[in-house]
Amino acid sequence: MKFRQFPNSLLLLALLLVPAPAFGWGAEGHEIAAAVALGELTQPARRQVSELLGSEAMLVQMSNWADEIKDRRRDTARWHFVDIPLHAAGFVPQRDCAGGDCVVAQIQADMGALRDKRLDKQTRAQALLFLIHFVADVNQPLHAEDDDDKGGNEVRVHIGRERANLHRVWDVDVVEALGFNPQGVAADIERGITPGQRQAWARGTPADWANEAHAIARDQIYPPLGGARELRLPRDYAWREAPLARLQLARAGVRLAWLLNTSLK
Ligand code: ADE
Ligand code: ZN
Ligand code: ZN
Repeated sequence: MKFRQFPNSLLLLALLLVPAPAFGWGAEGHEIAAAVALGELTQPARRQVSELLGSEAMLVQMSNWADEIKDRRRDTARWHFVDIPLHAAGFVPQRDCAGGDCVVAQIQADMGALRDKRLDKQTRAQALLFLIHFVADVNQPLHAEDDDDKGGNEVRVHIGRERANLHRVWDVDVVEALGFNPQGVAADIERGITPGQRQAWARGTPADWANEAHAIARDQIYPPLGGARELRLPRDYAWREAPLARLQLARAGVRLAWLLNTSLK
């Protein structure tokens, strides 16, 4: 058995060494969500993750693989988000996910592949890597909306002397405000999850999660900004918004664990 795992681990190691551009939640956000999920996995799910990826720690270490391959796999670039118009009531597949090129449809496709034991191990391992990443992305509010600004990528912001864009602030800065050690942040998040929250979050569909994230962007994140394409944010913006990022990362971790626990029995 050992020698069969070896080439797989080598492949994963090679993939790991590819340099990482910053998309999605930043690398830290994905590691936090995956580490929360790992803490919530049942024994059978852990074992199967370990069989597919070489070790259970790969769940966290490979959580940014889907971003790292984006330049080589241009066809996957639209799989990380869903452009629900900011002022819409919610997700409409025909309008927001043509051809299945959105994060909602991809989570469903990856779930199907992961569950299908007739598929070869490589195919299922790849579906798992996409799934780990996309369940975190769909809970990032700016990955579930578009205000003709590419999910905030075209909103220029100034914070103190720093220039950034709104999307990046939410992918990276607001997460960094939680702390710089993903394992530590994840452990802290997990300790704070109540049984009631776990129960409320571990249900629903990827479309429900996209709708929830979209509503947060529409009702909480965009209104205070006043619709400007270039604006100054308060210096403590990331720090003030960090609890909301923490909540979304907690939901992402619990939801990923729930999907894995129910499909890898
Ligand atoms: N590109 C276009 N829309 C986007 C979004 N909502 N999130 C990330 N990248 C995008
Ligand atoms: Zn992003
Ligand atoms: Zn992503």
